Order: sequence, then C-alpha cells, then structure tokens
Amino acid sequence: FEHFDDCAIYRLNDTQSIIQTVDFFTPIVDDPYTFGQIAAANALSDIYAMGGMPIFALNIVAFPTDKLDLDILSIILKGGEDKCTEANVKILGGHSIKDDVPKYGLAVTGIIDNEKIIKNNNAKLNDDLILTKPLGTGIITTAIKKDIAKKATIKMAIDVMTSLNNIAAEKINSIKVNACTDITGYGLVGHLHEICKSSNLSAKINYKKIPFIDQVESLAINDIIPGGSKNNLAFFNENISFYKEIRNHQKLMLSDAQTSGGLLISVSKNNSKKLLKELNKNSEFKSSLIGELVSKKEKTIFVINE
Ligand code: CO
Ligand code: CO
Ligand code: CO
Repeated sequence: FEHFDDCAIYRLNDTQSIIQTVDFFTPIVDDPYTFGQIAAANALSDIYAMGGMPIFALNIVAFPTDKLDLDILSIILKGGEDKCTEANVKILGGHSIKDDVPKYGLAVTGIIDNEKIIKNNNAKLNDDLILTKPLGTGIITTAIKKDIAKKATIKMAIDVMTSLNNIAAEKINSIKVNACTDITGYGLVGHLHEICKSSNLSAKINYKKIPFIDQVESLAINDIIPGGSKNNLAFFNENISFYKEIRNHQKLMLSDAQTSGGLLISVSKNNSKKLLKELNKNSEFKSSLIGELVSKKEKTIFVINE
C-alpha cells in the first residue's frame, strides 16, 4: 500500500493473492446507463492495472430515493451489471444508502499470481512509456455539463470511459512489463510522478506523442477545465520541467483528471515494440509510445516537444 498502488494485495499462499479495490463517484454524464457502465469500468480498471483478474464485485450506492425515480437507479445498476458481465465479473450484492446526491461504484475482488503482480515502483532505467487511451475526459465531461461539447467528442469520451482495460491487461500479462498504473484522478502527470518517485527515476515525455481526444485543446484554451485538473497542476507543477514554449492550457491538458482512463505502462526497450504491436491489434484506441524513463534528476517529469 505504501507506494500508492492501485489495489490492496493480500497474500493467500505461496502462489496466489487476493487483489481488492473500491471506487465510486457522483454522475459525470446525464445518461444513467452510461454512468453505470463508466463507474464499473473505472472500478475494474485498478485490478487490470496490477495484472490481476477480477472475479466478483459488490455495488456501492447512494441515491435520493425521495427525490428521484427509483427506475433511474435500476438503470444505473443495469449499466454496471452489463459492464461487469462483459468483464466476466459477477455482482454478488452491495449496500445502498439514502443521500442527496447519487453516487455509484463497486468494490471489486480479484485474484493474482504472486509472481505476476505489476506494481508501480518497479520501472527501470531506459524503459519506454506506453499510454493505451487518449486523454481529456475530465475536460470533456466539464464541457458536457456546460453543453458545449460536440456530439462526436462526447461519443469518443464515453467510448474511452466505458471501455474496459481488460484486453490491454491480457497483453501486459503475456509480455513482461516493469510497472503499470491506470490514469485516473491525478491525471497523466500525477500518476507518472508516482511511478517515477517510487521507482527512483525520472521520466521524459514528448508532448507531440501524447494523444488527446478531438476538441480537448480548443476547450482547454477556453478554460473549460475541471477543478481537479487545476489542482493536479498546482500540486505536481514543482516536480515537472516543461519545455519553454508550452502554454498553460497545455500544461492543464497533461494534468487533466481522468475517469476510467487508460493504462500507463513502463516496459523495457526490448519488449516495447512487441507490446505496442500487440496492444494495437484490433484495439478501439491507439496505444502510443509517449516517452521513457531516465536517471533520477531534480524534477521527476521532463516534458519535451520534438
Ligand atoms: Co488506479
Ligand atoms: Co482507483
Ligand atoms: Co448492508
């Protein structure tokens, strides 16, 4: 737990451990079914990021039963259930409370081979960094609330947030990687900082190689940025060296708080081409090589633009 890994691990015996995580949040899209799907994909993601196999889950629900139609809750739960079915995970129960603001998520339990646990503190010098989904869902969900996101942008963001990281997880289980985490609330810079700090290394990432969902930059220029993303930049800024000409909205794009984001994988140069090819085989989103690990320097992250 000390290295802010995505899940708790409890060793059962010499070969296997239980892997456990919990995540829940308030609705980030209007459609209850989509919200349920996103919440489930997001909760399952932490298990995948560590190389585990989720088995079953429990629902965590808060709902204003006196103000909102209970049918809405059923639809949220159906979204979560369908996403879990896709992941081959059974929902075995849960707990709900009455609350003014709806909240939904899951506690997910999985199993993992002790030898296959992928932590975030094991990145190696010269590793390549691969990102499996484009960034910008925080900015886009903020734009959705302001009703200024384009239809195609909304669709792409929802595709990103509802898609499971299970296929990518299969690939990192078959091709050895050194470290992995999923990109969520702390954004790319926050989660990368954690890998660097706990692995005693720094990272160099190339702004030009970092994939963003269409319209993210034009929204960011107009200050459509969630508070969480601004907080991320304020918090991690002192650990980052940005190339000189970078504009503030681009720094914020790199810090954008994600929901159900992709995996950030640290893999040896020997394995990275093979992994990238595997990840990009009939995949919904293009995985990108965004940078590499370098020796530990005063800053943990160097953002270049070449
Ligand atoms: Co995580
Ligand atoms: Co999490
Ligand atoms: Co109960």
